[in-house]
Amino acid sequence: MRKPFIIANWKMNKNVHESVDFVRAIKEKLPANKEIGIAAQAVSLYNMKKVAGASNLQIIAQNAAAELEGPYTGEISMRSLADAGVTYVMLGHLERRRLFNESNTAINQKVLAALKAGIVPIICTDEEMVQTEVNGKIHYVFQQLKSVLRDVPVNKLSQIVISYEPSWAVGSSHQANPEIAEEGCQAIRQSLADTYNNDIADKMRILYGGSVNPHNIYQIMSKPNVDGALIGRASLDIDSFLQMINYV
Ligand code: G3P
Repeated sequence: MRKPFIIANWKMNKNVHESVDFVRAIKEKLPANKEIGIAAQAVSLYNMKKVAGASNLQIIAQNAAAELEGPYTGEISMRSLADAGVTYVMLGHLERRRLFNESNTAINQKVLAALKAGIVPIICTDEEMVQTEVNGKIHYVFQQLKSVLRDVPVNKLSQIVISYEPSWAVGSSHQANPEIAEEGCQAIRQSLADTYNNDIADKMRILYGGSVNPHNIYQIMSKPNVDGALIGRASLDIDSFLQMINYV
C-alpha cells in the first residue's frame, strides 16, 4: 500500500521567517496516515528542519547540483542539503526545464547525485515529457523518463517519487481534472511496469501537480494511481494547506 504524499511546492515564495513560522504553525497538526512535505527556498531549509524537530514533516529542496562538491560558484550541494536535514529533492520541475533549460541528461546526473547523498529524488514530468500527439491522438511515450532514470540501481527505484504536472494546469486558472491526473499517473505506472517490473511499478509513488486546491484534492486523491499531490499556490496559506493535508 503506497502512503499518500502531499507536498507544498512554495517555489520562490516565503522568506526564512515566513517559512519557519509556517512550519511552527502546522507541525503538531500533521495527519499520521499521510506523508507531508514542504519544498521551500534553499536558504530556509535548515531552519525549517530545526523547527520541524521530531515531527514527521519532510523538508524538501526544489533543486540542487549534480556535483557533490567543488568549484561550482553559486550551486547547492546534495551533501550540504542532506547535512541540513533535507530528505527529498525535486528535480526537473517544468519551470526549471523551461526557464533554465535543464536537460534530461543533467537531471539524470542530479538523480544519481541525490541517491549518492542519501536524498530521495522527486522526478518531475510534464505532458511534453510523457506524451506525444500523432494524427490528433495522444500517445504516452517514456524515452525521456527512462533517460532521467538511467543507471539508477534497481534496488533504489521503488523509493523514487515521480510527479506528473501537465504544464497547462500549473499556475493556471484551469481546474485540475481528476481524470487527466489518473490517466497520466496510470500511464507512467504502466511504463514503469513495462520497463522494470510490476513490483517496482506498484511501489513507486506517482504524484499529480497543477491547480490542486481544497475543492478538488479529494477527487484527485481518490484515483487509484494518484499517490499524492504537488501543490503550488494553494499551499502558501496555512489554513488551505491544513485543509488539503486532512482531505480525508
Ligand atoms: O509543483 C507543483 C506546482 O508546479 C503546481 O503549481 O500553483 O498550479 O498548484 P500550482
